[in-house]
Amino acid sequence: MNRIPSSPRVAVVGATGAVGREMFSILEQREFPAASVTAFASARSAGKTIPFRGELLTVEELTAESLNDFDLALFSAGGGTSKRFAPIAAKAGCVVVDNSSAFRMDDDVPLVVPEVNPEALDGHSNIIANPNCSTIQMVVALAPLNKVSRIERIIVSTYQAVSGTGQAAIDELMSQAYTIQAGDDVTPQVYPKQIAYNVLPHIDDFLDSGFTKEEMKMVNETRKILNDQSIAVNATTVRVPVVRGHSESVYIETQTRIGAAKAREVLSASDGIRLVDEPETGGYPVPLDCAGQDDTLVGRVRDDLDAETGLSLWVVADNLRKGAALNAVQIAELLLDR
Ligand code: A2P
Repeated sequence: MNRIPSSPRVAVVGATGAVGREMFSILEQREFPAASVTAFASARSAGKTIPFRGELLTVEELTAESLNDFDLALFSAGGGTSKRFAPIAAKAGCVVVDNSSAFRMDDDVPLVVPEVNPEALDGHSNIIANPNCSTIQMVVALAPLNKVSRIERIIVSTYQAVSGTGQAAIDELMSQAYTIQAGDDVTPQVYPKQIAYNVLPHIDDFLDSGFTKEEMKMVNETRKILNDQSIAVNATTVRVPVVRGHSESVYIETQTRIGAAKAREVLSASDGIRLVDEPETGGYPVPLDCAGQDDTLVGRVRDDLDAETGLSLWVVADNLRKGAALNAVQIAELLLDR
């Protein structure tokens, strides 16, 4: 477990991607005390430039030797790249915060949401995993309620933006919308079916159980982050034609009754959450409200009509920020503090 110096040399891996680009804006906005920031992507992007702190960074090709002289690497270049390069960086003494699912369930890899389980950072082997975007915003909203009364069951349906898939998916949604408006047929490439003007209950591969890998990420990661293997989690993950901002309909049952009024009070006093819950005036969060924001927005808090301990919530967050780049940079900030 390496310590990160107070002015680390930082590598951003996957610098040209949807999350990578967001990393730079967050490092800049939060005035992250980096001694240097270097942008890495594939050979395809070598020589491209990225604006950062009033300068242009030139993107470099990531190779096995690239990460020898860094203190911190923020990876967001897909699982294959993480599996190949993160262990090399970690061995060279660089602390990796990895946005892919490659290491999330490894026992020696902390899976961290700073508002929820910062203590998990106490032991690591130079690789720390950033959870799945849908899991992050859900546990930010649920952890404070779980402290009031243990959550026994979660039933969640997601409405996930295409930017979670990456830049190619944003381009596909935009181009399909134009093509359809022009009266032409579309040929899906990134997604299995047309995403424009459609809704796909299919994220990542299907498993024999009938659930998808994305749904099982929500099950397994929630249990690991909340440190409770007995929470029952049932997830349905759905891709919607929204560019940015994931929404979730979340139903929970707790050990003892919390009640909607108390839940609102607890949520509005919790770090990283903004309660937006005045339905009579249209006061509920939507994806367009959360783009560029750090907080997870929670609304539609209501008691179940039948189950004594049942509560429903609507949870919205910027998947590129809290769901990915912001959470990774917050983890890095915690590491600096240690
Ligand atoms: P590139 O743009 O050169 O392909 P997104 O999630 O938006 O699809 O972005 C994925 C990011 O991961 C991009 O920056 C992409 O770079 C990068 N990437 C993909 N494959 C590799 C690789 N083998 N080595 C380094 N970066 C990679």
